[in-house]
Amino acid sequence: MIEVRPAELDDVAACVELAAGLAGPPRSRLLVQGALERRELLVAEAGGEVIGTLAYRTDWFGCSLVTLVSVRGDWRRRGVARALYRALEVRISSPRLFSSTPETNAEAIRMHGALGFTPSGYVDNLPQGARELLFYKRLEPGADGSPTSSVL
Ligand SMILES: CC(C)(COP(=O)(O)OP(=O)(O)OC[C@H]1O[C@@H](n2cnc3c(N)ncnc32)[C@H](O)[C@@H]1OP(=O)(O)O)[C@@H](O)C(=O)NCCC(=O)NCCS
Repeated sequence: MIEVRPAELDDVAACVELAAGLAGPPRSRLLVQGALERRELLVAEAGGEVIGTLAYRTDWFGCSLVTLVSVRGDWRRRGVARALYRALEVRISSPRLFSSTPETNAEAIRMHGALGFTPSGYVDNLPQGARELLFYKRLEPGADGSPTSSVL
């Protein structure tokens, strides 16, 4: 069973390892540590192990932005990223959720489409070389006032 929960200090090493493939070790640590300190870091856990992580921020032009999502290789295509985004969506209060990926990452582009995101521009001139594609999803308030996805 997969459980999604806020990350704790003990999860940092696993999250940095998951992030390292995307951002490289020094930047991954900064990204993960910063998100943990802001309490904007989620982990997916199965059998007592961290199998995925999602970092976000809520101060991006007054909107929420996912800054990292990564799932352990042996757990991909089993709904872990879907569970992480769903858990995020009930936590944030902004109805505007953004997420991004380099234009070379076909898997992540497909995932954003499958999770109900639509393209929302791109960022040029980043050190990674490839453009960063932005994705947007409008969240509707749930019965309890918390945002829930309008498309799942
Ligand atoms: C992209 C990534 C986070 C997806 O995580 P995941 O747990 O495998 O995704 P899910 O199983 O929740 O997939 C949700 C939907 O996205 C789509 N999807 C995900 N991975 C896909 C792939 N490799 N090919 C095609 N579609 C894919 C599917 O529609 C999937 O639903 P389905 O399996 O019911 O068809 C994962 O592949 C990963 O960690 N990649 C390396 C890091 C990365 O690229 N991060 C994103 C950029 S920041």
